[in-house]
Amino acid sequence: MPNPILVTFIAGPAGQWRVDRQSNISGDGLPVAQRLSMFESSAPPGVGEEIWRLRGTTSNLRYTNRQEVASLAAIQEGLGRPRSTRAALIPIRKNEAWWNLPQNERRAILEEQSRHIAIGLDYLPAVARRLHHCRDLGEPFDFLTWFEYAPEEAERFEDLVRALRVTAEWTYVDREIDIRLSRDP
Ligand code: HEM
Repeated sequence: MPNPILVTFIAGPAGQWRVDRQSNISGDGLPVAQRLSMFESSAPPGVGEEIWRLRGTTSNLRYTNRQEVASLAAIQEGLGRPRSTRAALIPIRKNEAWWNLPQNERRAILEEQSRHIAIGLDYLPAVARRLHHCRDLGEPFDFLTWFEYAPEEAERFEDLVRALRVTAEWTYVDREIDIRLSRDP
């Protein structure tokens, strides 16, 4: 496991990503900005009139078994591919019922019932992803999920989020905002 990376997302008038669309899926929304920046830093530079910022950190895996780790490692690709000019930042919070469950029951809901990892694997390597945890940072969300893909994969990405949102796992999600982004090639 590489050292955790602290990542700060800042919404405002400037940044490498243009905000194309922002949808409140559940719970309270966030103000809509024109642009978004992602900084791999806990003390990012100012971006002018900041509208909001969210922080998260990469971490060790919680639920993935050895075989799944190997399958993911064999096909996933990293962030920053030149053709990935589309991205999604999807901040997510899960409810107290989820956090009160023991680890093994959470794994069973995430994978044996909901097939989160199996479904996700079908979308690799077209989608590159990074999961940021923020529950322990006192942030308003538990996770900042980040995805990058090429424009021709945009429709398939919709299939992916639709498939996950009808799972048993998602009945524990009580706040979710779907922010879609693009950048120039
Ligand atoms: C692109 C395909 C995807 C793959 C391969 C994938 C894979 C995974 C894996 C392996 C984990 C477990 C990490 C661990 O063991 O701790 C995970 C967690 C998570 N994923 Fe995905 N995922 C995908 C897409 C998505 C999408 C589209 C969303 C949001 C709409 C999402 C939201 C999450 C969240 C919130 C967690 C944390 C769950 C928790 O710890 O309670 N994933 N994902």
